[in-house]
Amino acid sequence: MNATVFFTLQEVDGAVLQDHTAVVIDVLRASSTIVAALAAGAQAIYPVVSTEEAIKLATSLGREDALLAGERRGLKVEGFDLGNSPREFTPEMVGGKRVVMTTTNGTRALLAVDGAEHVLVASFLNLSAVAAACADAERLAVVCAGREGRFSIDDTLCAGMLLSRLKERLGGTLEVEDAGRSALALAEAFGVDDALLADSAAGRSLAEVGMLDDVAWCGRVDVEELVPKLKERIIQRADGGGS
Ligand code: MLT
Repeated sequence: MNATVFFTLQEVDGAVLQDHTAVVIDVLRASSTIVAALAAGAQAIYPVVSTEEAIKLATSLGREDALLAGERRGLKVEGFDLGNSPREFTPEMVGGKRVVMTTTNGTRALLAVDGAEHVLVASFLNLSAVAAACADAERLAVVCAGREGRFSIDDTLCAGMLLSRLKERLGGTLEVEDAGRSALALAEAFGVDDALLADSAAGRSLAEVGMLDDVAWCGRVDVEELVPKLKERIIQRADGGGS
């Protein structure tokens, strides 16, 4: 396997990913929230860029079973049903529902890799399940959402841990370039560290809006087996499970 890491979604611009499996990571919090939503029985997630697009799509899907979710500056968008805290995505709230979602970086990253052969969503919550799902790929693109064009340590740490899981499986047949080697080194140096996540730029922003509890929640490793897969702009469980 040849694995490339992109530290920000902006780096993906212009990259040719048609023959790649892309894994998108936005630990704090979009990719963790997508995993939480599908684990809670949401039927599908529809990632979109703007709030206007979200409202339009939810209306056309039918507001009786399509929920609007997302954040701006970490807070729920006015008039939406849900924000972007994974803890809000309970079976009571999202079971059997379609969720139209817009977030600052995460949903943009997903749409930026829409041209890849396969697109999977990873977080600490489902790390080993994603590693197993992409272990046979010949070309892997690990795309960190980052924060408005900047490097984010939480996403890169998760990318490094994914590569480390793949290294355990594939040994010397895993080839990584400089960005991937740096992500691996970060993972080897820190592992998942709640203090490091809380002190990341994303962690500090969440603390500012009173959502620090989301950080430790998203820092739990391998608590879900499911792999979200994006196809034709719709995210569902790769195993077809759930409702
Ligand atoms: C994003 O997409 O930028 C995030 O997930 C931000 C957040 O959850 O507050």
